[in-house]
Amino acid sequence: MRVLITAGPTYEPLDPVRFIGNHSTGKMGYALAEAFAASGAAVTLISGPSNLPDPAHPGIQTQRVETADQMYAAAAAVAPEAGVWVFAAAVADYKPAQIAAEKIKKSGDTLTLELVKNVDIAATLGKTKRPEQFSVGFALETNNEHAHALDKLHRKNFDLVVLNSLRDAGAGFRHDTNKVTLLDAQGQTRIFEVKPKAEVAQDIVDAVLARLPREV
Ligand code: CTP
Repeated sequence: MRVLITAGPTYEPLDPVRFIGNHSTGKMGYALAEAFAASGAAVTLISGPSNLPDPAHPGIQTQRVETADQMYAAAAAVAPEAGVWVFAAAVADYKPAQIAAEKIKKSGDTLTLELVKNVDIAATLGKTKRPEQFSVGFALETNNEHAHALDKLHRKNFDLVVLNSLRDAGAGFRHDTNKVTLLDAQGQTRIFEVKPKAEVAQDIVDAVLARLPREV
């Protein structure tokens, strides 16, 4: 079984020294790569900038990227051959409309940046998903969590969505723990306790493997 995982943040450059990014560490995606590899899968881990070292497991091939466009290109090259897709990356929704060739100098009291929408990696690949392929997405929400997560499941053609609520202590960015709810396309919901990200990853792998057709 081949598994494609996106992880970490993306950095969208403004000029040669600045970028727009976010606080994602990549921990959840890297933990998923380890858990899938431990179950015998061949994993391609496509990671945005992260301080984590490449996972040592021989079943994991790590590709480093910076921008959403680069992450999309790398994921699109692997997706057709992967039976399982896991979109754990915190992709920047927007990027600067222009990248300045030289460092932007300080001038007026205010500075307005024009941003344009980035490619939605999960949704774009979701349109190409074959019936035997299985797609997992993440939803980080602050309100109406279940409704927003189910909306993402349908919009992005996920089979399973991992919901993090920022209202839960110990969930989300910059924690070694996470608290998730898994929602599937059949309407099944399972709420998990706060636990280390490695154990959350194992719960997600178990949920995916239980839903795969045998021959994948
Ligand atoms: N995702 C992606 N490419 C993007 C944005 C998101 O692949 N450009 C994936 C994420 O990896 C995650 C899922 O889509 O699995 C949901 O991401 P999220 O940022 O919560 O969704 P958005 O569509 O950006 O919705 P919103 O920001 O409005 O909540």
